[in-house]
Amino acid sequence: MTRRRVAILISGRGSNMVSLIEAARAPDFPAEIALVLSNRPDAAGLELAKAAGIATLAIDHKAFPDRESFDRALDAALTSHDIAFICLAGFMRVLTDGFVERWSGKMINIHPSLLPLYRGTKTHRRALADGVLVHGCTVHFVVPELDAGPIIAQAAVPVLPDDTADTLTARILRQEHRLYPTVVRWFAEGRLSVAGSRAAVAGVPQGATLLFSPDP
Ligand code: GRF
Repeated sequence: MTRRRVAILISGRGSNMVSLIEAARAPDFPAEIALVLSNRPDAAGLELAKAAGIATLAIDHKAFPDRESFDRALDAALTSHDIAFICLAGFMRVLTDGFVERWSGKMINIHPSLLPLYRGTKTHRRALADGVLVHGCTVHFVVPELDAGPIIAQAAVPVLPDDTADTLTARILRQEHRLYPTVVRWFAEGRLSVAGSRAAVAGVPQGATLLFSPDP
């Protein structure tokens, strides 16, 4: 089995990155985590990746005069590591349209809401303030518009009456850590496709890509 070479881009703690590294340890996992890259040299996730024996790279965005030159450095690093596709996992930099188009169909992101609800940041606080009863997370293809790409899979959780942003965050993170490896497996198996604004997973009926997942 040729394992697809994946890069994970992070900016912080890297818990989704860890879930992908752990999933990729399985001998039958069709992807290998070939590189973890951060735009912040102090990202805690970099140390976790190093400890797991993964190649890491920090490219500090502050060292570049503009987004274009940072994205060119990012692209050069990914190309030199022979990366087939990119997983954004808490990567807190807006990417240029040129970079996104260059990696079109080969870059996915995990977002902590049931898109298209709650694009952007502070999703859990906003969901609680709105009094929604269901919330969750989404894995989607990345397009130039922020958090707007074709949805591949979602996991939903209940919002409980005594939830705080912290308890809701924790409940959703548990689902993120299940959902992201599932989608990366599909991706590496070549089962994901995109037509216009719709993503499809070969062998998984459209309705089943919304995963209502009870806590494990
Ligand atoms: C997650 O909530 C993810 O959905 C969002 O950023 C957060 C990253 O957390 N994109 P971690 O660094 O993976 O722990």
